[in-house]
Amino acid sequence: MKFFLDTADLAQIEEAASWGAVAGVTTNPTLYARIGGTVSDFPKHIARICACIDGPVSAEAVGSTRDEIIREGRELAAIAPNVVVKIPTMIEGLAATRVLANEGIRVNMTLCFSVPQALLAARSGARYVSPFVGRFDDIAEDGIEQLSSIVDALDNYVFAEGGPNGEEIEVIAASIRSAQHVTQAALIGADIATVPFDVLKKCVEHPLTARGLAAFAKDWEKVSQA
Ligand code: E4P
Repeated sequence: MKFFLDTADLAQIEEAASWGAVAGVTTNPTLYARIGGTVSDFPKHIARICACIDGPVSAEAVGSTRDEIIREGRELAAIAPNVVVKIPTMIEGLAATRVLANEGIRVNMTLCFSVPQALLAARSGARYVSPFVGRFDDIAEDGIEQLSSIVDALDNYVFAEGGPNGEEIEVIAASIRSAQHVTQAALIGADIATVPFDVLKKCVEHPLTARGLAAFAKDWEKVSQA
């Protein structure tokens, strides 16, 4: 499973990219608002993110009609070759995805909460689909169970029919809240987990690693004094 970083914060992206293990970035309007972004700076900000990460960068279209989404999608895709257009799972979004996919523009279908939605995303030509895990948990439902069903259903789909546009759709486990979610997503067979910066850091840390490091440092001091 690959790791994407779920943020629009450039400092976090630069830092995480330097760790060498992050394969892409996902953003959304909320994450962009959180860093104080403006509409006029949005294309430049996406370009800055694209320049510091060697992998797909999802930038979300905010239009509500297919024509608006198609126009935005083309504009976003023109920013950099690694832009992926993020489009919400809805009728207008599916229609726009089909048009953009036919033009070779990669789409990440977002706000996906069910198997039928994920299958329709695949049928419309989306390159990625993003089932949200944590938002299910927020309403006392099991987000990991939904993710698991979506991974299974898409495996059946790809096995039976082959992916659209000759590429298999990849499942991005999104709305990830913890290292435990990351573990579960990996075991289920999600292709990617997109994680906030603090969760990524927690994935690196372990109390036994910290304890082991302290012991090694202490023993090395003894060696150095001998
Ligand atoms: C996915 O790409 C979204 O940006 C994200 O994971 C949303 O997560 P949230 O539920 O933490 O807002």
